[in-house]
Amino acid sequence: MSNESFYVTTPIYYVNDKPHIGHAYTTMLADMLARTHRLLGHDTWFLTGTDEHGQKVQEAAAARGVPAQQHVDEFVQRFEELWKRLEITHDDFIRTTEPRHTRVVQAILQDLYDRGEIYQDEYDGLYDVRSETFITERDLPEGCTLDNLPDHVKPIRETNYFFRMGKYQQWLIDYIQENPGFIQPDFRRNETLGFLRKPLEDLCISRPKSRLAWGIELPFDANFVTYVWFDALVNYISAVGYQSDETQFARRWPCQVHLIGKDILTTHTVYWPTMLKAMGVEMPKCIFAHGWWLSGRDKMSKSSGNVVNPLEYADRFGVDALRYFLMAEMTLGQDAAFTEDVFVKRYNSDLANDLGNLTSRVLKMVHTHSEAAVPAPSDGILQDPDAANLWKVVNAAVEGMTAQIEAMRPDLGLADVMTAVREANKYIGLRAPWKQAKEEDKQTLFDTLYMALEALRVCSALLYPVMPAKMKALRHMIGAGEGEPGPEHLRTFGVLPAGTPLIEGEGLFPRVQVKKTEPQAPAPKATKKAENVKEISEIGFEDFGKLDLRTATITAAEKVEGADKLLRLQLDVGGAPRQIVAGIAQHYAPEDVIGKTIVIVANLKPAVIRGVESQGMLLAATQGKRLTLITTAGEMDSGARVG
Ligand code: ME8
Ligand code: MG
Repeated sequence: MSNESFYVTTPIYYVNDKPHIGHAYTTMLADMLARTHRLLGHDTWFLTGTDEHGQKVQEAAAARGVPAQQHVDEFVQRFEELWKRLEITHDDFIRTTEPRHTRVVQAILQDLYDRGEIYQDEYDGLYDVRSETFITERDLPEGCTLDNLPDHVKPIRETNYFFRMGKYQQWLIDYIQENPGFIQPDFRRNETLGFLRKPLEDLCISRPKSRLAWGIELPFDANFVTYVWFDALVNYISAVGYQSDETQFARRWPCQVHLIGKDILTTHTVYWPTMLKAMGVEMPKCIFAHGWWLSGRDKMSKSSGNVVNPLEYADRFGVDALRYFLMAEMTLGQDAAFTEDVFVKRYNSDLANDLGNLTSRVLKMVHTHSEAAVPAPSDGILQDPDAANLWKVVNAAVEGMTAQIEAMRPDLGLADVMTAVREANKYIGLRAPWKQAKEEDKQTLFDTLYMALEALRVCSALLYPVMPAKMKALRHMIGAGEGEPGPEHLRTFGVLPAGTPLIEGEGLFPRVQVKKTEPQAPAPKATKKAENVKEISEIGFEDFGKLDLRTATITAAEKVEGADKLLRLQLDVGGAPRQIVAGIAQHYAPEDVIGKTIVIVANLKPAVIRGVESQGMLLAATQGKRLTLITTAGEMDSGARVG
């Protein structure tokens, strides 16, 4: 892909369809690519739109008793509204009923007709009424013959216009073989080459008006319209000034990537290139077919009732969380599973735990210890090996995202950013700012906080194309300004000005409960209420081994509102943040426990206590009214195994 100019398209969707997760996915993917290229400073253009001609639209409009144009004018709004809701930043939205498009289609048809690339012929064969296509004998369902046709297939004798596609067969095979990047992924290229092993026929591009009126009239024969592909595919050039604005066309074309689903591979990799070749227009750089969203292991289909409604997820978890999930979960080109379970797991681990907790713990400390303003770092801050290492990992995320976007692997780019987020959490664990806060000289604490804020600044810029609203909020909280991030500061250290006041916002990604589908473990057998240790039945070693006991450092503590016994504790467990709720408020004040290294049961099922989620349980010794926390006798990092 070129570095200077980036032009990306989505298919133009059938305007009659109800927009679903598939349409939303392709469009969000294009949006993420476009936003990332803008972030990297490239001259970017992002086109989407709607395909508005054809039999189905004509019929739907007739059924409603409205003119076809009025019908599409109403239906297009569903797409426009959805794109707004999903934070899509297309530069242009083309509709095939617009004059700027129909004019270009007609000019192309006239030119090809004048040069003998389009000719009239009599079609004498079979027509499948259901799919609105001409078919051959070998397309007939099993058991059917020319003398025994199924109801939906009719013999037809009809005059039509044809495009001489067949003569470009060898040229196309050679072109595809010489340009391995042209059809991606590789296995889709092979699929097209497989298709091209059979003789390539000429393409019927017209319908008599008597059968279909809702199309673009042929400029050389007013009794016919063109429909579907010869109309729709042209949108990719009519929208960027082909034959109307040469400057714009030269700036945008050739397109860097046509994003499509695998359902429209042949039309984009066979029809479109041969049409362009006949017109004498340069080929697009890449046609990329992504995979299918599946519901668990099954194909999503309306009939099986397992279609995921994107808006339902956007309502429940937020648009940004949905965008993040779709981009992080799919290896481009492959199919991917969409289930609530996978969604919630990824949300909780990446967004709630890693990113959300990093943000909230850093901001809390800045508010408590640095008068709610960006602290001033010391001059040699990056000479500290831990700081240098963190900055190295953050830089690797910048390089990773840049390279993976070029390679069409946004999932890997996002994984690099999440590695940097986790590294920042680890860095905080290593530096133990809750201990640094107790020292007389606050500079080491300030350096820790400044490093963490800078890491957040760069990571939030890299995540901005995927989660624009959340990252805007985050960047506002950390003093990185209001505007969209640009390429200037991605690789520069020390951009946040000391003294900038910070805002403590709401939690960005509140944890959500995993819906439990697995059978519940059997309830433990009732044991005699035992005051005396000896009366508790013995357990085997493997039972004890099931407990995951870990050291954990308390990084923040506060009372749970309306519960005088409970403290909500934020813990660091070997770099991973977690929250538990403990009934120790009558024995410890919040400020007494911050910085202590305690022992927790790390693999206890999460539970909600007074509306607050508790991810584990701490160990304490009790006797009568007395309670004391189990802590380590010597220095020990958090996350160490106990047992
Ligand atoms: O084919 N998973 O429009 P269309 C992922 N008008 N993506 C999916 C999907 C799924 N389950 N289902 C649909 C047309 N898509 C023509 C295109 S282009 C010049 C004309 C996406 O409304 C995917 O991008 O049927 C697929 O190619 C597109 O929606 C088809 O949209
Ligand atoms: Mg379709």
